[in-house]
Amino acid sequence: MTFNNRQFRDALGYFPTGVIVVTATTDEGERLGMTMSSFNSVSLTPPLVAFSIHLEAASLVKWRLCRRYAINVLGEEQGHLSDRFARAKSGKWDDISATDGQFGTPLLPDVLVALECEQYARHDGGDHELFISRVLAIHESPRTSRHPLVFQRGRYWSLQKDQCA
Ligand SMILES: Cc1cc2nc3c(=O)[nH]c(=O)nc-3n(C[C@H](O)[C@H](O)[C@H](O)COP(=O)(O)O)c2cc1C
Repeated sequence: MTFNNRQFRDALGYFPTGVIVVTATTDEGERLGMTMSSFNSVSLTPPLVAFSIHLEAASLVKWRLCRRYAINVLGEEQGHLSDRFARAKSGKWDDISATDGQFGTPLLPDVLVALECEQYARHDGGDHELFISRVLAIHESPRTSRHPLVFQRGRYWSLQKDQCA
């Protein structure tokens, strides 16, 4: 290899992403929530999306067992939600008034869009596990002109108000 881990991370960091919080209620009634930037679309028919979870994430075993979960896309003013669900601690859900979607997944308040999903496939992704998910329902914010939270080079950004093309 011609590069080290740091150089690889830095190179990937140039690529901006949105930020999602994946949420679920386990069969035992426990609420799970985890911030991720490794989100992308996979297929239109069937409607598939993907994210990946680090093999050392404390909650990975629980995510594997979840049949359904919601992918909540954060708006630019929701960096605090991203930080909260990126903590490896309990109390992630304190004071959060989530509502249940039509497939029973917990939807975070005031996100840009929430996708209710069912687990479709899981694949080896090196030190991550790739979760492919089939989208079951879409819940859009009524305020569609809002901007997404953007993550790039380890920091949060908001989009400029002007389109460049
Ligand atoms: C902006 C941002 C993006 C992240 N993206 C991912 C990701 O795509 N996959 C992942 O495994 N962890 C990601 N993390 C880290 C997890 O959110 C963090 O490790 C979290 O504590 C895991 O939850 P758990 O400890 O309950 O398992 C991200 C963190 C931040 C702040």
